[in-house]
Amino acid sequence: MSESMGNWRRDSRCGEVNEKQLGKELTLMGWCHKQRDLGGLIFITLRDISGEVQIVIDDDSPIEAREKAARVRGEFVLACRGVLRRRQDENPDMKTGAFELHASKLRIFSKAKTPPFYIEEDIDVKESLRLENRYLDLRRPDMQRKLLARHRITKIVRDFFDSEDFLDIETPTLIKSTPEGARDYLVPSRVYPGKFFALPQSPQIFKQLLMLGGYDKYMQIARCYRDEDLRADRQPEFTQIDIEMSFIGEDDVMDVNERFLAYLMKEYNGYNLELPLERMTWHEAMSRFGSDKPDLRFGMEIQDAGDLAAGTEFKVFTSALEEGGMVGYIAVPGGNDMSRRELDDLNAFLQSNSAAKGLAWASLVDCEIKGSFRKFIDEDFMRSCLRRADEDDTAQLLFVSDPDRNTCLEILGTLRNEVARRRNMIDQKAYRFCWITEFPLFEWDEEEKRYVSKHHPFTAPLEADFELLDTDPAEVRSRSYDIVLNGTELGGGSIRIHEQDLQKKIFSLLGFSEEEYQHRFGFLLDAFQYGVPPHGGLAYGLDRLVMLLVGEDNIREVIAFPKVQNSSCLMTKAPAEVSDDQLAELGIKIVES
Ligand code: AMO
Ligand code: AMP
Repeated sequence: MSESMGNWRRDSRCGEVNEKQLGKELTLMGWCHKQRDLGGLIFITLRDISGEVQIVIDDDSPIEAREKAARVRGEFVLACRGVLRRRQDENPDMKTGAFELHASKLRIFSKAKTPPFYIEEDIDVKESLRLENRYLDLRRPDMQRKLLARHRITKIVRDFFDSEDFLDIETPTLIKSTPEGARDYLVPSRVYPGKFFALPQSPQIFKQLLMLGGYDKYMQIARCYRDEDLRADRQPEFTQIDIEMSFIGEDDVMDVNERFLAYLMKEYNGYNLELPLERMTWHEAMSRFGSDKPDLRFGMEIQDAGDLAAGTEFKVFTSALEEGGMVGYIAVPGGNDMSRRELDDLNAFLQSNSAAKGLAWASLVDCEIKGSFRKFIDEDFMRSCLRRADEDDTAQLLFVSDPDRNTCLEILGTLRNEVARRRNMIDQKAYRFCWITEFPLFEWDEEEKRYVSKHHPFTAPLEADFELLDTDPAEVRSRSYDIVLNGTELGGGSIRIHEQDLQKKIFSLLGFSEEEYQHRFGFLLDAFQYGVPPHGGLAYGLDRLVMLLVGEDNIREVIAFPKVQNSSCLMTKAPAEVSDDQLAELGIKIVES
């Protein structure tokens, strides 16, 4: 039989029993991690979020306790009362290994089926099984540590921004669409059949309106929703640390956020972050690292070999150059021992994970050229490339060419990351933050045949590029900045447009007719008629931040109840059908596609 709490009261958590409690009668509660019955002697390892403790039931325990203990199985929920005593054979691997509770009374609150996997650290089971049974998975110490870390990080965030006079203000989640480049999740209105709320992709418009409302420093830990293709660092609902400030420029936003990051790193794990953080423009990041989120924990910067390749007869290269493209390479230090197999694998990886059409390699072994296109190059070519990359003969050169310069850079960026990963060139203990600034304001969308915002439509263009808005929009730089940590985009933001006419112009350049932008953003443009402070801000992905700080590479590991790749919840089976009545009430008819 299972029993209720009755007049049982917990005196301590399992993992927190200590010297001072020795000899005292205690009640401990938790899950049975393991029960071992050695005849007259029964051991139960009792577990709760704080850890484990050993319970002993022996000949000196009352018969009722002995009988109950004999029936206990893994994951039963128990209360055990007894005297805490010193263990004869201390267990040095256990925090409470010096103690045991000699039980005189036992209560079984709840029995348990055998779980589908062990409730233990580092289990080797399919993630889907863990997620279908997330409530069991959450009992495992490593999951509990990660959620505890998340709690601590959130607390540090709140403490810091509170100490800097930021106000925590909630913004609505049933809203009119705020564009951040993804699809909206829609919520049908019952009162207005045929009309919909959108769930916020971010609090962007509302935080700007708070600036108009005079709240000059805002922060919120805000839930955001985006219907987009999921990856290891993306969820359809996720949490932002959202910040906005008035009467500021880029340096003010970056400055307070650098102090925040330094405070966080210090408080969370005693890490001394050196300020100011490195800054580079988007343009520089692309040329040197082939990425707008460069991983600075290793070198292998991209080199341009266009001038050298132009003098060869290697058609792959020369034809890319003739089309206005690029030939670039990275030099892998000490890599001239890379096997043919390794190089072929890299080539295959690149072709399936980027726009690469091929990979060409070359190295010098005893002054002799080895490589896939050696008949087209000589030692001079090799020496020039090695010198340019500041490497010696032991390096392996990996070349990529493409008729489009940016595509070539992106491929090389992917290659650079992959080579570093495969060759263990990444210092796993390092935290390399950097700011990437001056992203292009627009990006050409080939599918929609129009410009789309690289960040969002409220981002201000650089004043120096105002004229280009009319002549060459693709070249306009923006007053935006991303904060990158170890090759992951942690957060991003910008200085906003605070002028009605400029905002209208941007909407037009994005292909909105006046009617469209009035319909979607009329309230914002109206608000802009009543005195707007210069303002800007940024948002961090909290999930990503926690993920990086606890050393995970999957965002699901730091979310209690995450969704999987296809945006569903394996545990609750959401999304799910709703009743015909509910649909009728909302005026919705399902059309079979
Ligand atoms: P942005 O769209 O760059 O900017 O988002 C800010 C940060 O939120 C995180 N993030 C995500 N995390 C998990 N899953 C997702 N699907 C996801 N999408 C974004 C990233 C990202 O850097 N309103 C602007 C901010 C501003 O301008 O102030 C915004 O939302 O870490
Ligand atoms: P091919 O002339 O296609 O036989 O290619 C000769 C070598 O060049 C092979 O090693 C290819 O992998 C490599 N290669 C092909 N296309 C590219 C490219 N765009 N960039 C770099 N190397 C390439």
